[in-house]
Amino acid sequence: MALVFVTRHIPEVGIALLRDAGHQVEVSAKNGVLTRDELRHELKRAPYDAVLCLLTDSIDREVFEAVPSARIFANYAVGYDNINLQDAKRAGVIVTNTPGVLTDTVAEYTIALMLAVAKRIPEADVFMRAGYYAGWAPELLLGIDLKGKTLGILGAGRIGYEVARRAYHGLDMSIIYNDVTHHSAFEKDFNARYYHDIDSVFKESDVLSIHVPLIPETKHLVNAMRLSYMKKSAILINTSRGSVVDEKALVSALTQKMIRGAGLDVFEYEPQLAQGLASLPQVVITPHIASASEETRSSMSRIAAQNIIDVLAGNSPQNPVPLP
Ligand code: GLV
Ligand code: GLV
Repeated sequence: MALVFVTRHIPEVGIALLRDAGHQVEVSAKNGVLTRDELRHELKRAPYDAVLCLLTDSIDREVFEAVPSARIFANYAVGYDNINLQDAKRAGVIVTNTPGVLTDTVAEYTIALMLAVAKRIPEADVFMRAGYYAGWAPELLLGIDLKGKTLGILGAGRIGYEVARRAYHGLDMSIIYNDVTHHSAFEKDFNARYYHDIDSVFKESDVLSIHVPLIPETKHLVNAMRLSYMKKSAILINTSRGSVVDEKALVSALTQKMIRGAGLDVFEYEPQLAQGLASLPQVVITPHIASASEETRSSMSRIAAQNIIDVLAGNSPQNPVPLP
């Protein structure tokens, strides 16, 4: 029997799986993100063999040192920018994530945000609830069509691929994309065009959707200069990580009507929003819920737990994060 610490309550299935495998599971009693000090304090309370952590936990050397008995930190997320991988390597800890299961969910959500901005659905909903509806009108809340428009994808990974697939087959959009390398499946499956030069994607996209991981090279990938290259009619969608976008520059571009609108599920300083963002009607903002379907959050729970079970049994986990 091993000891597992879970930093916040997650869907029960993973916890049950760990218990069924004979492990003792402690779930943080706090209904919220543990502060750094609280996390270290909790981890020092017992010689935990494994930790199941969340993207809201910053995991680095001090945290690893608080629990030297731990062999694995299983992140309940596909992104793992919250974990210092160098420190994990030094501490000899295995890190895992939950890729795959959330791909379709995030892709669906990305399309939902695109449509929400293009068709102004949240604005229309606010309008109705405020009692402003005085009957059908020819120019009430005009949106735009997506058919025939160009979708630019930054980051041609699994999620980028599934967004492109839905946009190409479902919405009749043309696809262009940028990544560090060329992905021939995009050309083959969606007749997409690859741009090695990222700036061209900003210039040509009607909708630009971000699907890169947050790494030093992608921080502020969307900056004031690139925003200025975009079409005045363009829409920016971000379901990746907030810091990929210079949020202050985005607010400024939107305020000056340099682009049409944005759909954002992630923010640079979550849960804080850049000043002015929340008062822009052309922006749809949601609280980092792109992967939040009942099915997927349960699958993520199961996968994070299985990664722990495998490591504790001395096997290789299914989803190891490569350490530097
Ligand atoms: C969510 O943002 C994730 O990385 O899983
Ligand atoms: C995540 O699953 C990605 O590769 O986009």
